Amino acid sequence: MAEKIKPNLKKARKRTKNAIETTEYHFNPAYEALGNGRTYFIETHGCQANEADTERLRGLLEKAGFSEGKKVETSDVVIINTCAVRKTAENKVFGEIGRLKGFKRKHDDMILAIGGCMPQEENVTRRLTEEFDQVDIVFGTHNLHRFLDLLARKLHGDDQVVEVMSKEGNLVEEVPAARESRFKAWVDIMHGCDEFCTYCIVPYTRGRERSRKPEYIKKEVQDLIDRGYKEVTLLGQNVNSYGLDFKDTDYGFADLLRDLSKTAIPRIRFTTSHPKDFTDDIIEVLATGGNLMPYIHLPVQSGSDRVLKRMNRKYTKHHYLDRVRKIKTSIPGVSISTDIIVGFPGETEADFEDTMELVETVGFEGAFTFIYSPREGTPAATYPDTVTREEKKLRLMRLNKVVAADSLKGNKRFEGETVSVLVEGPSKTNKDKLTGYTPYHKRVNFTGDEKLIGQIVDVHITEAKTWSLDGVADEAND
Ligand code: 5AD
Ligand code: SF4
Repeated sequence: MAEKIKPNLKKARKRTKNAIETTEYHFNPAYEALGNGRTYFIETHGCQANEADTERLRGLLEKAGFSEGKKVETSDVVIINTCAVRKTAENKVFGEIGRLKGFKRKHDDMILAIGGCMPQEENVTRRLTEEFDQVDIVFGTHNLHRFLDLLARKLHGDDQVVEVMSKEGNLVEEVPAARESRFKAWVDIMHGCDEFCTYCIVPYTRGRERSRKPEYIKKEVQDLIDRGYKEVTLLGQNVNSYGLDFKDTDYGFADLLRDLSKTAIPRIRFTTSHPKDFTDDIIEVLATGGNLMPYIHLPVQSGSDRVLKRMNRKYTKHHYLDRVRKIKTSIPGVSISTDIIVGFPGETEADFEDTMELVETVGFEGAFTFIYSPREGTPAATYPDTVTREEKKLRLMRLNKVVAADSLKGNKRFEGETVSVLVEGPSKTNKDKLTGYTPYHKRVNFTGDEKLIGQIVDVHITEAKTWSLDGVADEAND
């Protein structure tokens, strides 16, 4: 049965200050033939941390002889890697599990596993075990490296296999990864989060903040360079606090960026940043340019000091604008995007106006905007919700209009310019075109030869659209 998981705020808030150890994953040779010609399919919800986890699950499965299937219905092992950050994401997963009940009645040998953030919530795991007997395996975020053990138990005849750890445990290195892209890679630099923003479930589902040792990160990046990768994105819930949990060293995010900037990887990105920890030393390193990309995702969440305080964000509007000013003056042309929540409990019209004012002042080149979603076990879920659904939707629409206009304005500056693009492959919407991103994280759809895929090439921008740029590859690339 699942270990007991009860979000206990007081206990959870205590920092473990590196009681965390690092261990290395060892593949059990007994699993070499586990796959035996079988296929797998993983459906991934949520953020980049989940996408990175999915790549580890793929790595494990492929090492055990499974190959990737084309879709859920024709695969032998199906994993849904879930997200818990908003209710809508959870509803989608329960819908999908419900849909698979009928399918599994006819295809009894398909194995359905539910993993990721949702099972870390006690009420979800209880529901999965009590109400959904079509689910064969339930696992969480802390024991992903044990997936083959759980799968082997199921294949050897166990009933529902449930293993969810409520504590984060050791950092496990050297878990194999089968990456989605041959050119760009996610690189976790830390796990978990210690911020406890009052609306957010992540500290409960992903545990305390634990930084990976720099030598493992550098080794992973070097290995990617050796295999011809062109871009890494360093991942963490708050990358700016990387290393604060190290006991015997001051090594931090600025040091890591500096060290990685000296490697041969052509492009380095990172996400997500926290305004309170975006210190001058980080800006100074980024200002050296080179392979450090001039794009920063800096979630603000709200422009109202009153709301920021109630969100436990630990900065003010003034501080945020000061960071943006410093970033913009130090890194010429930098592109900044953000996350914003509207309709946080108690958000007044005046609070929302503060957010609109901040958005207009900064001129974000992109923003992910969300209506607040109460998450059981978080402090904000107990705050009285004073804003009607209608009002929340109206605020979101007003905000999105400004964000779209700013995005178009930001894109316009590239019209007629030549930009460098890491070519990812054919465009999803127009197969005759190629697609990729500029250093400023602008998507470019352009005409060019397929042999450019995987390269960083020059593209002449012919038209700026709201969310992307159109262009033509320079002939000099041929
Ligand atoms: N409701 C709405 N949005 C949320 N986010 C996190 N928790 C919630 C919630 N309960 C948003 C924040 C965060 C992004 C990943 O998701 O904006 O930055
Ligand atoms: Fe959630 Fe805040 Fe941590 Fe981001 S910093 S994962 S919003 S608690």
